[in-house]
Amino acid sequence: MKYLLFCYFAFISISLVSCDLGPDSPQGFSLPQGDVDKGAMVLTKYQCLACHHINGIEQAAGINNPGLNVRLGGNSTKVKTYAELVTSVINPSHKLARGYPLAIVTVDGESKMRNFNDVMTIAELVDLVEFLQPHYKLVPYRSTNYQFYGY
Ligand code: HEC
Repeated sequence: MKYLLFCYFAFISISLVSCDLGPDSPQGFSLPQGDVDKGAMVLTKYQCLACHHINGIEQAAGINNPGLNVRLGGNSTKVKTYAELVTSVINPSHKLARGYPLAIVTVDGESKMRNFNDVMTIAELVDLVEFLQPHYKLVPYRSTNYQFYGY
């Protein structure tokens, strides 16, 4: 019975994954190689650090947006993919950053992040993401160590 249930769930999971490959699937998405140094300049140009902080990078004085300090980079138990980073920049409300109260990071259900789509060039976006991605470090998931309460 357990084996049958396992097969059933395996089948459902495989079907769900394969359904994902419709016309809206992100599969095949790829941007050209960017330039990390230019990416750092893009970060300054668009004043991303007004609302963000990145470990090891100083925030220029005077551009701080009080009340918003969303962390970019750092340790995570989940890979931050290239596609997710691009999406966070060009379509921020698609998937909001985890771990922040909605009242702080959204207004009327939309991300408070500024929309750069009319001003940022594609070359700038490519460089920016090339710069940002190495700041995310994958760390192993640490499971909770429950005490054994034996009699
Ligand atoms: C006006 C404030 C503001 C500015 C300026 C801003 N952001 Fe954001 N950003 C936010 C907020 C608020 C969030 C959290 C909600 C969300 O995920 O959209 C966010 C989320 C993000 C995320 C997703 C973080 C995660 O953990 O999922 C990335 C990546 C990001 N911003 C990159 C940038 C970059 C790059 C720039 C500069 C080009 C920038 N932001 C400029 C406010 C801002």
